[in-house]
Amino acid sequence: MENAKRELARLLSNAGIFLAADAAEAAIGGVDLNLIVSKLIEAKSGAEGLKIATPGDVERAVSSIEEDRLAKTPKPVEVSRTGSFVPYASEIEADYRIEARDAEQTEGNVNGFVDYFRNRLSRLRQVLETRSHTVAPSIEALKDYAAGREVVIIGMVNSRITTRNGNTMMLMEDGTAEAKVMFMKAESREGAALFASANRIVNDEVIAVRGRLSGPFVIAKEILWPDVPIRERKEVEEDAAIAFISDVHVGSKFFMERNFVKMLEWLSGNVDSKSKALAGKVKYIVIGGDVVDGIGIYPEQEENLAILDIYQQYRVLQGLLESIPDYIHVFVLPGDHDAVQMAEPQPAFPKELIDMDRGNIHFVSNPCNLTLHGIDVLAYHGYGLVPMIHAIPGLSFIHPEEVMIEMLKRRHLSPIYGGSVIVPSRNDNLVIDRIPDIFHTGHIHKNGISEYHGVHVVNSGSWQGFTPYQGKRGLQPTPCNLPVFEAKSYRFTTVDFTGVV
Ligand SMILES: [Fe+2]
Repeated sequence: MENAKRELARLLSNAGIFLAADAAEAAIGGVDLNLIVSKLIEAKSGAEGLKIATPGDVERAVSSIEEDRLAKTPKPVEVSRTGSFVPYASEIEADYRIEARDAEQTEGNVNGFVDYFRNRLSRLRQVLETRSHTVAPSIEALKDYAAGREVVIIGMVNSRITTRNGNTMMLMEDGTAEAKVMFMKAESREGAALFASANRIVNDEVIAVRGRLSGPFVIAKEILWPDVPIRERKEVEEDAAIAFISDVHVGSKFFMERNFVKMLEWLSGNVDSKSKALAGKVKYIVIGGDVVDGIGIYPEQEENLAILDIYQQYRVLQGLLESIPDYIHVFVLPGDHDAVQMAEPQPAFPKELIDMDRGNIHFVSNPCNLTLHGIDVLAYHGYGLVPMIHAIPGLSFIHPEEVMIEMLKRRHLSPIYGGSVIVPSRNDNLVIDRIPDIFHTGHIHKNGISEYHGVHVVNSGSWQGFTPYQGKRGLQPTPCNLPVFEAKSYRFTTVDFTGVV
């Protein structure tokens, strides 16, 4: 007993919470300590200052775990449609198109990577050439230019260093030669702004730089990112809605199954709420990966698993998907926790993993382009979000939507090589060449919605509760918040399923 209490205190302190000395021994007997920690992290997530778990807190956590356990006793999820609910979406025709973005496999040797980067460079070069008319034909061509001449060059960023004088020197290459681009530390407002934006450049991205030739250097005056042109709002006749889900993590002890089932009941009109009319409009659901928790994804994951068999995890997921009304079309992507190759782009789930004979459930690649009632959706699990957060000043796990905007500006889902595992392929299918109306990601378990140049960006959070791992790293997930986009009004509403009755 004493040991369990000591262990709980240790796990909690890892998550920045102190266990009060008088926390009742009896309260924790026999209950999974990781689950108690998860509940307490959640309960204390809004608290400022010192976080102390009192005996009352521990008791509440334990009784909530018991409620979850009773709710989870295996029984098929039953979601019935009430007679009075005639959903609008059941009366309109589905109108969808799927464009997979799988990798074109090569032999996986060095040449594969050469082709891959060449493809990235040439596709993004085309985009950048529309932004400037005076681009030098190649970096090699600079050697014939007179000193002092103004040039625009396009290339892939190789590396960036700070020189002894505090300037930034960046190496860019385009397959013909390498350019040394200097960003001078400057006092003037414009100079300082340019110098600061140089800090936002990430390795392996493709950019254009306007500058002046000076000896072996190009002295930078302007950075051009590929960027997206302003996107016009589409006129959609039927008021279909698209719901966005990701990071369900079926099989995890922290999967919030009761809340998820509540959301399924809401879709079927079984919940009396203000948003009932909205539920009836949902014609499409995009599920952005990490649909199960997987096995062997990180060390000692078993401690956090409720279902240790990967096939069983997908069977439970299948049960949940089957309770979605059949007039709703569901598009399911894999993520890094799923049992397909981790390298991106990821192929759709194979039939051996999950085989559903339902016309409304579609397993698709990650990333994937979908057109739903005329609305273009780019769905991506989001593995590339994390390296971007680490590389670009000012980005954080709290605002995934800001990171997504940086991806749009770079027209790439994961520019930093080594940030994600990529498949050597003839085509770089993580390039964003088709600009979407909605850009959807998950992965970091934090909801966020924004708009950039007319493109709506949405991170759909998660359906997994607070894990000890997140507590340890100070991450603040926002589970069980469902963003829904209405095509006619072009508006997002987030429906809150955190409170379960
Ligand atoms: Fe993920």
